[in-house]
Amino acid sequence: MRAPAKVNLHLSVGQRRPDGFHDLTTVFQAVGLYDDVTLTRSDALTVTVQGTGAAEVPLDASNLAVRAVALLAERTGGDPRVAVHIAKGIPVAGGCAGGSADAAAALVGADALWGTGWSREQLASLGAELGSDVPFALHGGTALGTGRGEQLTAVLEQGEFSWVLALSEAGLSTPAVYAELDRQRETGPVGVVSDPAEVLAALRKGDAVALGRSLGNDLQSAALALAPRLRRLLDTGRDLGALGAIVSGSGPTVALLARDDGHAVALAAALAGQDVCSAVRRAEGPVAGARVLETS
Ligand code: C5P
Repeated sequence: MRAPAKVNLHLSVGQRRPDGFHDLTTVFQAVGLYDDVTLTRSDALTVTVQGTGAAEVPLDASNLAVRAVALLAERTGGDPRVAVHIAKGIPVAGGCAGGSADAAAALVGADALWGTGWSREQLASLGAELGSDVPFALHGGTALGTGRGEQLTAVLEQGEFSWVLALSEAGLSTPAVYAELDRQRETGPVGVVSDPAEVLAALRKGDAVALGRSLGNDLQSAALALAPRLRRLLDTGRDLGALGAIVSGSGPTVALLARDDGHAVALAAALAGQDVCSAVRRAEGPVAGARVLETS
């Protein structure tokens, strides 16, 4: 199974709700960085992880892919004794929903392994119990997310966009970034992003220049407060000619929008020489959501 990373092209965060989550309006785009997840019948539910940042991924029952298999088993009577293997291509704790991608891939995989035959919609509502971004990792493409991000509407769009993702070594914890935004909002109005109209219009036209100008993320100020080095990375990206530069979700990954593929290659190469990030990846968006690559 393969599931993609996401970038939030627009993310406006409302007030903290009584359940601890924040109401938000977001535009997700699935981009071509992937985690590959393999499920094999076994004598216990286990998980192994390989790839950059693998050491940071939990190997116990809190692992999102493990939780996904256990939850679907509980609801369907499937046999949860499955060996889960995750090959990470998505930055860990990077703001690109890598854990959610693993959960989405595991749901699709367990459904296929057990012949459960659940619809995407059924898997998505189960996925929402695991994490706010899991339904989008199943959906893929580009979508408007509301609620805590789990309620999705497809977005009219055309064209492909070329992204350069700049990775940082130290991850950021999503709850910590939301808590920092709450703290900032106690002392003044924070949140510059209100309405996704410009992002949606740019997507409808397939206009990369307009999209670059309209990217916005309310979590950016909080991510910058916790990881101040990101400011230089954003500035460097813009100086190098990115159409737009934004912290992805809760960060610390920074997404730079390039004019086209060739520009993305040049931008990635220039950025790699600047000592502002730990690694650089190129990715096209939008791409499909979690899917089965092969069954045995
Ligand atoms: O849903 P998920 O497990 O990805 O959320 C991780 C954490 O991010 C939550 O526990 C919460 O602190 C924060 N969050 C939030 N509002 C959202 C989504 C996430 O406060 N809409």
